[in-house]
Amino acid sequence: MAPMYMCFVFACFTLVPLVTASGILVNRLPWRLTAINGFSWANCDAETLPGKIQSLTLLPDPLMIPGEITVCTILNTTVLLTAPVKIQVTAEKEVMGEWLKIPCLDNFGSCTYDDFCDILDDLIPPGQLCPEPLHTYGLPCHCPFKQGSYYLPVTSFEVPSLSIPSWFSKGNYRLKIVVSNGDQEIGCAKLTFSLAGTYI
Ligand SMILES: *[C@@H]1O[C@H](CO)[C@@H](O)[C@H](O)[C@H]1NC(C)=O
Repeated sequence: MAPMYMCFVFACFTLVPLVTASGILVNRLPWRLTAINGFSWANCDAETLPGKIQSLTLLPDPLMIPGEITVCTILNTTVLLTAPVKIQVTAEKEVMGEWLKIPCLDNFGSCTYDDFCDILDDLIPPGQLCPEPLHTYGLPCHCPFKQGSYYLPVTSFEVPSLSIPSWFSKGNYRLKIVVSNGDQEIGCAKLTFSLAGTYI
């Protein structure tokens, strides 16, 4: 009986991460991201919020990974952004014609980041110069962010091989990203793209 019980426990441990809360069967085969296709963006809510994407371009399409990526963006805010800046991501994957919500696993997926300001401070110790290309263009990398228009001119950089969790498998995705400050919703963006990859 003992081996059988052990086997059951083991099966539960392996199955629990496989069948997640949203019912997506997580793919555990080793997988490597090779390209991002058809990236598009939109502001939600008919652009009524104080924070907006004025423009965002990611080139080329498809973006090969590893490879060179070119970014250009203008982000606007008509309000001051001070800590805590909450970011809520809702990630969905198209599975047989239906959009299924992806859970938050390893900080990927439908995650809530309670204070993006803290995350920035962890990534870039305050007091250091902001990393390129932000430094060159005088763009800030810590809270607070003043109201205004933040322009990142055409900038290219190399994207290395990304080790994203293998359950973020190939297919069509859409993300809704809501930025808020206390009770105030600052901005909301929707991104769509598809991931291509190979099993390794
Ligand atoms: C963003 O700000 C710039 C500069 O103030 C302005 O010209 C532009 O219209 C704004 N865009 C949006 C979408 O509000």
